[in-house]
Amino acid sequence: MKDRPALKMVQDALDRGIVGPDTVIVESSSGNMGIGLAQACRYFNLRFICVVDPKTTAQNLTLLRAYGAEIDLVTEPDAAGGFLKSRLNRVNELLRLIENCYWPNQYSSPQNSLAHHVTMSEIVRDLGQPADYLFAATSTCGTVRGCSEYVRQNNLPTKIFAVDAVGSVIFGHPPAGRLIPGHGAAIRPPLFQTGIADECVHISDLESVTGCRRLVRDEALLMGGSSGAVISAVEKVKHRIPDDAVCVAILADRGERYLDTIYSDDWVLNHFGEVSHLWRGPSRSNSTTTTAISRTA
Ligand SMILES: Cc1ncc(COP(=O)(O)O)c(C=O)c1O
Repeated sequence: MKDRPALKMVQDALDRGIVGPDTVIVESSSGNMGIGLAQACRYFNLRFICVVDPKTTAQNLTLLRAYGAEIDLVTEPDAAGGFLKSRLNRVNELLRLIENCYWPNQYSSPQNSLAHHVTMSEIVRDLGQPADYLFAATSTCGTVRGCSEYVRQNNLPTKIFAVDAVGSVIFGHPPAGRLIPGHGAAIRPPLFQTGIADECVHISDLESVTGCRRLVRDEALLMGGSSGAVISAVEKVKHRIPDDAVCVAILADRGERYLDTIYSDDWVLNHFGEVSHLWRGPSRSNSTTTTAISRTA
């Protein structure tokens, strides 16, 4: 999901001449946007500095380096105890220090949400009809905003459920610690707009893990943390959705980046205690028709 906006932000800056062959791209990301930008920058042969924090997983750092990105690590947490503001401060410092430097700024770039107009148009095309309901996780709000703009511009009947993390402030809830990366944010992103979604569903870390484990059990899909949150959100509201409704749930990334956390029994036990009964039960019945539309970026 982040490869699309990553590519579009870099491509747009190149097209507009803001970025040239000698420009250094700088972005704050501890996860998928960093890896997406590293890929796009490698493709266009641009130098890329990714500002990360100590919570960035070893696997993501290895992936970033494998694509040729330079790692800039902030170590001091900000006043709120997180690292987002520290990372953004460091980005601003690098912009001052390095000549010919460009910050795509995933939290406010219109290209981020524009990339997901295409996502929504592909969903409609592949379904052969508009969805009645769309569930998508939210962080920068690029996905939800892009999909909802497309829905409004094309007068589609699709109702959008934004899926946020408990502890995220995007939809006005109080801040709290979160374990699962991907969805949720410690700041309200500039891409957020009132009415961006028809409804927001807040999902806890444990519900997110449970959603992931049930996706493996029921669909043999090994997906990332925000995907588990999306599936748990569907479970939470499905009693309000008519049986014949066409529902789309966007699963943003795969589970390989979460093998040491969500898919580690020890990690789950350490953080939540003995909870495996939540997904050890019998599979869901086959009464729902599920079509998995698989796409590469
Ligand atoms: C795994 C995953 N899911 C969901 C999101 C949220 O998407 P968006 O930033 O478009 O709101 C992200 C964003 O970083 C992500 O990495």
